[in-house]
Amino acid sequence: ISQALRNHLIIPSWGEFTTKIRNIFEEIRTNVDPGNVATYIPQLARIDPNIWGMSICTIDGQRFSLGDCKTNFCFQSVSKAFNYAIVASDIGADVVHSYIGHEPSGRLFNEICLDANGKPHNPMINAGAIIVTTLIKNGLPMADRFDFVLNEYKKLAGGEHIGFNNAVFLSERDTADRNYALSYYMKENKCFPRGTQVGDMMGLREELDLYFQLCSLETNCETAAVMAATLANGGVCPLNGEMCIQPRPCRDVLSLMYSCGMYDFSGKFAFHVGLPAKSGVSGAMIVVVPNLMGICLYGPPLDQTGNSCKGVAFCRKLIENFNFHNY
Ligand code: DON
Repeated sequence: ISQALRNHLIIPSWGEFTTKIRNIFEEIRTNVDPGNVATYIPQLARIDPNIWGMSICTIDGQRFSLGDCKTNFCFQSVSKAFNYAIVASDIGADVVHSYIGHEPSGRLFNEICLDANGKPHNPMINAGAIIVTTLIKNGLPMADRFDFVLNEYKKLAGGEHIGFNNAVFLSERDTADRNYALSYYMKENKCFPRGTQVGDMMGLREELDLYFQLCSLETNCETAAVMAATLANGGVCPLNGEMCIQPRPCRDVLSLMYSCGMYDFSGKFAFHVGLPAKSGVSGAMIVVVPNLMGICLYGPPLDQTGNSCKGVAFCRKLIENFNFHNY
């Protein structure tokens, strides 16, 4: 409030800014490729394709939301960015990257492949994200590991609500042949960190359960925008000033989101939009404008590369209207 009274806000002409954002948002609602919602589990297949929501949170806590900004969605692969940041902040990026590379794979997000060093290419695709999951408080009981991540998500969100969709979790687990195959392939190639509990069928199943549970965490645009703003703010939550992610892993996750966060479209997204982002198969995506704000977009229909049609179109328009591209 004192910053506002002194006119020291990070976006001073807020009215002008939000008017432009509203125009972009409404234009995208009607004027974009229709795409298709994900159908591999019934919970996603049943989602209303017309849902369209957007929220912004600046690093000084100014907030603006439009449309279905309070509608819940599952993080799905958006969780991969937060999980990586949380684990790297907990045990150090160097440890994490002794098991996972930094390069875009140029392959599908769930492809069964490793890089030239026999590691998953990066933490933003399934292979790398499964390894990240095994590094979460390894050695503790599963319930404590889940609680740890949930609490970290809540911290990133400034205490706002993070839910869990059990139906999505159960469906994910029922349709997980690819993730099992991928995990056995990684087990065969000794990709899993020493001391992790994947030695037998039961251990592997428990690790994958945790991975599916984190995909099934639920939030809405308003809250995810705060989480993205925490990443924009060097790991410090703009709502309460709490340090959630150490500065180095915060920088690292943004670098990886920039190069690998949008599936097989990551290069083109970096080229046109020039901002770190992470999308998920639920149609949600987060975008970070470093040192300025976090954005969350939610439009369920996906394009050919698996990204939200409306979300990507919004980002392209954003860059036409504002000087946010990194370069
Ligand atoms: O692992 C899976 O197949 C999904 N639950 C991951 C979802 C997702 O968003 C795909 N993205 N990379």
